[in-house]
Amino acid sequence: MPLDNTPLMLLEGYGWLPARRRESPDGVARTRVLGRRATGLCGPEAARFFYDEDHVHRHGAIPGLVQSTLFGHGPVHTLDGADHRVRKAMFLSLMTPGGVADLARRTAAAWDEAAAEWAGRPRVVLFDEAARVLARAVTDWAGVQLPRDEADELAADCVAMVDGFATLGARHWRARRARARQEARLARLVEDVRRGAFHPAEGSALAAVARHRDAHGERLDPRVAAVELLNVIRPTVAVCWFVAYAGHALHRWPEHRERLRAGDEAFAEAFAHELRRFYPFAPFVGGRAARDLTYGGYQIPAGTLVLLDLYGQNHDPELWPDPYAFRPERFLGRAIDPYELVPQGGGEARTGHRCPGEDVTVAVLRELVIRLARLEHDLPPQDLGISLRRVPARPASGIVLADVRAPA
Ligand code: HEM
Repeated sequence: MPLDNTPLMLLEGYGWLPARRRESPDGVARTRVLGRRATGLCGPEAARFFYDEDHVHRHGAIPGLVQSTLFGHGPVHTLDGADHRVRKAMFLSLMTPGGVADLARRTAAAWDEAAAEWAGRPRVVLFDEAARVLARAVTDWAGVQLPRDEADELAADCVAMVDGFATLGARHWRARRARARQEARLARLVEDVRRGAFHPAEGSALAAVARHRDAHGERLDPRVAAVELLNVIRPTVAVCWFVAYAGHALHRWPEHRERLRAGDEAFAEAFAHELRRFYPFAPFVGGRAARDLTYGGYQIPAGTLVLLDLYGQNHDPELWPDPYAFRPERFLGRAIDPYELVPQGGGEARTGHRCPGEDVTVAVLRELVIRLARLEHDLPPQDLGISLRRVPARPASGIVLADVRAPA
């Protein structure tokens, strides 16, 4: 039985699971993490295996440290079977084409308003500004009306929750405090809605979580309703990671700037997909073997932690020729198989655990990468390094923009 790999996992970051897979002749990692036997898989066939509900369950799979920071306690991520389907339907009811387009439109408007203000400042940090733009847009869209300073505080708290999920240091404690603060605020708001003291817009995320009934016809506990509302708001704010990565990509590969500036929407969408494939964000997803399983002749005993290597799959040369080249063109005029590109999980969002926010992520990025390419600015000397040992990774400087000129 291998030694527990948890310290190595925390140390090696995105390279940890690919390295364990490389050490094994069949590419299946056999290891131990968090005191449990673990099996690490990668590739479309592995993703099909992993997303079969009959094979992998989520209940009890997510460590408490990750729930206390990233997801909260009692969220959709940890449910299985009918409980999962009913809760997931609530998220999907918000992500209609009209709902997604509305959120993208509000984000573009918030960006335009903010960009006019950046012009008056000597320097702005793209990562931080994008988080604020996204928080203002998504809180309005979600029916949570917040004054600007409180939306900005929520932006910083959402970033902290994501930034602190994979460490035991100061970032972890910042994340816990941020989550406690925002859960308490949103739980009070849910109670106000239920008492009739606050009327959110029909069809908004706040209305949906306040009124949702679970598979047993019960309302959500206000704290769990707040957790699920944050599970819409927080990851939308986290699209700021990809906006900062877009700043990095436009600097490293300025040849893509012109097509974006010209407003080529198909190219902007391909650029968004390449950002999600190329840059590091979620390293892997995990669940527990629901029973004794066999994968490609290899036995996986019931209860084993099964990990799907998202970062590894997004850089697999079999799937992505020259995977460390940033080439948006690879996504032009081509359908994407649901088990192939997996930055936000694989399979079907409706029936499985795949992220329900992918359309939002792509629609928002399509708007913002065009705007970023059109933004006249200088890039002063700064640390543009992205360490793959830090999870989640991010450009060290946050992408500092200087002398932003007011957009025409
Ligand atoms: C699930 C990534 C944006 C809401 C997930 C999963 C990943 C992921 C890796 C886990 C899939 C699995 O367990 O198999 C991302 C990334 C995003 C993003 C990298 C970009 C910043 C969003 C947005 C929303 C959202 C914008 C909502 C508006 C959710 C929810 C789940 C989820 C509710 C749980 C789904 C379930 O367990 O059924 N996401 N996501 N995410 N995401 Fe996203």
